[in-house]
Amino acid sequence: MSLTTTITRAWLTRSFKSFSFQNDYDDFLPFEECDNLGLYVHIPFCKSICTFCPYCKTVYHKEQCDRYIDALIKEIHKVGSQYERKKETTSLYFGGGTPALIADRIGEIIAAINEHFIITEGIGVELHPDNVNVETLKKLKAAGVTKISVGIQSFSEKYQSILGRKSVDSNSLKIVLDAVEFETVSMDFIFALPDQTYEDIKSDVDTAFLSGANHVAIYPFIDFSFTKSKVKSMPKKRKKELLDRITTYFHQKGYHRSSIWTFSNKKEAQYSSMTRDNFLGFGCSATTLLKEQFKINTFSVDEYCKRINDDELPTSLTIRFSQRQRMVYYLFWTLYSMQLDEKKFEQFFGVSLKKMYGFEFWLAQKFGLLTKENGIYSMTMKGAFYYHYYEQFYTLSYIDKMWGIMRKEAFPERIEL
Ligand SMILES: C[S@@+](CC[C@H](N)C(=O)[O-])C[C@H]1O[C@@H](n2cnc3c(N)ncnc32)[C@H](O)[C@@H]1O
Ligand code: SF4
Repeated sequence: MSLTTTITRAWLTRSFKSFSFQNDYDDFLPFEECDNLGLYVHIPFCKSICTFCPYCKTVYHKEQCDRYIDALIKEIHKVGSQYERKKETTSLYFGGGTPALIADRIGEIIAAINEHFIITEGIGVELHPDNVNVETLKKLKAAGVTKISVGIQSFSEKYQSILGRKSVDSNSLKIVLDAVEFETVSMDFIFALPDQTYEDIKSDVDTAFLSGANHVAIYPFIDFSFTKSKVKSMPKKRKKELLDRITTYFHQKGYHRSSIWTFSNKKEAQYSSMTRDNFLGFGCSATTLLKEQFKINTFSVDEYCKRINDDELPTSLTIRFSQRQRMVYYLFWTLYSMQLDEKKFEQFFGVSLKKMYGFEFWLAQKFGLLTKENGIYSMTMKGAFYYHYYEQFYTLSYIDKMWGIMRKEAFPERIEL
């Protein structure tokens, strides 16, 4: 565990208590009282596996995938039918893996969701560039999908080959994306790859906006300890230079920054499954965040199906938060969207932000990380970099450790972070 995350955690939670995830779960998930509730569905299948990728996924086999979708629909009904009344939610995101591989059955999953939930801000699906064809996009659109996100990673042959991916033809992409329109067309890029320059990234994002994207996500490369990737991370100083220059370029172009890593050329184009106060996750490895707890489903496809077929929830681990721990969670994920409204914090916790974290927010303003106007804190460019810097520690100390264990053990006894 990194010293930085341990000290920050102890400081912000005012306790030396670790984040303790236990192998138990509640059958009943109290989501009715949750405002700003999002939905997430995980599809853990890919045609082939990329060495750098940390997510829960396995090679696609039709028979296993069909069994998985049957189980997924049962999980949705099991959780959704806890309450008679349909629950209003913000958005539904399908992530993976490669959810577009199940375009033929996505309508069944959405229909199950619609029996219990009302979605007010649209449905998003992740695609591999191989899935970007008129037939698949039409199927997704007919099922009700309004946003898509394509994992490009880079348009440059050099970086695709470093990542072990095939090159992507931006012209064919444009033809298909022009033929089937979506509200948001996002493209993912990985940056801070070895020797990558500002011109390389600028060329990638310019090509994205010219090829039909109205939103881009640029993720700094993370070298997870359990992946087989040989790619090395870029030194901090160079990464900061790159991030500063590309952010300045986005600002000059008048693009809107909707979160730490995402930018759009129109404000309505949004793609983010992370920035919700609460969410319900369905499927392998999916997480659920409620007012007082956070839970993670098993990473094993077979154990997932088995639990569901035994009419049990597939939860692997649950953490029951102390109030300060929940606050840290709230602050971390809300600031990911670059803004924090002190009124909303008070509504959520029933106590003012000033009382709980007045000193920290004052300090952050003094250091030029945040600005404040009409009760809303906004992250500065410097703040966004240090958030990113801290997020890397968090990812490597918490997510790396947890996912490293969970991909080997379906139901670990406990994990202390
Ligand atoms: C589930 S994948 C995307 C969808 C699709 N499976 C694909 O690969 O095109 C989500 C995104 O996470 C990002 N990602 C994956 N591994 C990463 C890593 N080691 N460091 C940073 N970003 C990563 C990539 O940009 C990827 O598009
Ligand atoms: S990057 Fe996408 S295609 Fe590659 S293994 Fe991860 S989820 Fe699958």
